[in-house]
Amino acid sequence: MEKLNLLVLSDDLDLRIEIKNLVADEDFAISGYSGFTAEGKTKTVNKYPEIVLCAIRGDVPDTVFSFVQDLLTVARGMIAILANDKINVELVNKAAQYGIRKVLPIDGIGQEEFSQSIKTVYELERQRVLDTNEGKKVRCKAIGFFGGKGGTGKTTLATGVAAQLARAGKRVMLLDLDLQFGDVLMALDLDTKNSIVDLVQDRGGITIENINGFSVEHSTGMSVLCAPKSSEYADFVTAEHVEKIIDIMRPYYEYIIIDLPSSFNDTTITACENCEEIFLIYNNEMLSLNNAKVCYTILDQLHQREKIRIVINKAEKSLVKSEDFEEMFQMPVFATVPADYSAALLSINKGQAITVAQPKSTAAKEIARMAEKIISIHTGIEPVKDKPEKKKLFFKKS
Ligand SMILES: Nc1ncnc2c1ncn2[C@@H]1O[C@H](COP(=O)(O)OP(=O)(O)OP(=O)(O)O)[C@@H](O)[C@H]1O
Ligand SMILES: [Mg+2]
Repeated sequence: MEKLNLLVLSDDLDLRIEIKNLVADEDFAISGYSGFTAEGKTKTVNKYPEIVLCAIRGDVPDTVFSFVQDLLTVARGMIAILANDKINVELVNKAAQYGIRKVLPIDGIGQEEFSQSIKTVYELERQRVLDTNEGKKVRCKAIGFFGGKGGTGKTTLATGVAAQLARAGKRVMLLDLDLQFGDVLMALDLDTKNSIVDLVQDRGGITIENINGFSVEHSTGMSVLCAPKSSEYADFVTAEHVEKIIDIMRPYYEYIIIDLPSSFNDTTITACENCEEIFLIYNNEMLSLNNAKVCYTILDQLHQREKIRIVINKAEKSLVKSEDFEEMFQMPVFATVPADYSAALLSINKGQAITVAQPKSTAAKEIARMAEKIISIHTGIEPVKDKPEKKKLFFKKS
């Protein structure tokens, strides 16, 4: 094991010596000592140790917590540990809130146990980073499923695509931001009482630990953060919450799939602004076409036009063709999912994503292809081509 650089922060000179003795281990190299001062901050940032060990006897003042928090924002990846002689639950919780990974006792602990505890924290943190996008060197893509018209299939497609991405081994978070009438919980028959409201109201704040705690794992492996069960809780979730949740999730997921309502409001707009792509889900009929025009104009005014991808769902023989959408948006339609009422009904009744409940249905196959296309664009790797469909979609102009 390479030596771990450790910097000791303490205003108490005697305590610095005590700490030095406690970490007298061949795996550590003490890179310096300083106090909770401007000099201490500069020293830490310049030396950029793997671990900063803050030692204090007695009550830990709030200024120390904010000092550590500041340090961690400039020295990302550094681990902060607190050594104290008055450890209690409140202190441990508060320390966690400020990003301190462990609180160790100063008294009644041997040198070996003290050093080993630090090494364990370091090893766990290293493993955690390896599991994130940062460690795997992949970027996260957030995709919103939107459209200003109800019932076009936003939830069906968001759940179907998310399930397919997860089945392809991707780390996926499905976020239900239809805060008033979100039905992902029912659509996937999920067993949880927790929702996004519990997350934003938790005293621990919006942290990745709380996001994990309040989301539920689906059988495909994806995580799902549900909308509140009752619409009166919708207002508890603000645009700021939405931005923070997406931001905090990013390092941990390759795809954040967001199911949105069919209306513009603060949270929807913020979600769109924080997505890389906005899939507008429409049906090939006149009202959809009309609504798409309005939606396009609003998203354009919000400077979100570049993110728009058009998806036609429940495609059927109709006077309105996908070409009409292409002409209106001046871009090719991203995917066309045929109408398949029996598969859609079975999926709802089983409480499974359509790609799981009815994988062989025409709609599910197209949704699976959509997921492949998303991965291919994101990774730059061409999907494996399967046999071409014999049947042409009859509503497309030949
Ligand atoms: N390709 C399809 N073929 C047939 N029926 C479909 C298809 N896609 C979705 N449906 C059905 O259309 C209905 C509405 O779908 P869904 O709930 O996904 O729409 P939505 O846009 O999320 O609605 P809302 O605006 O209420 O959130 C559901 O009954 C669903 O099973
Ligand atoms: Mg919906």
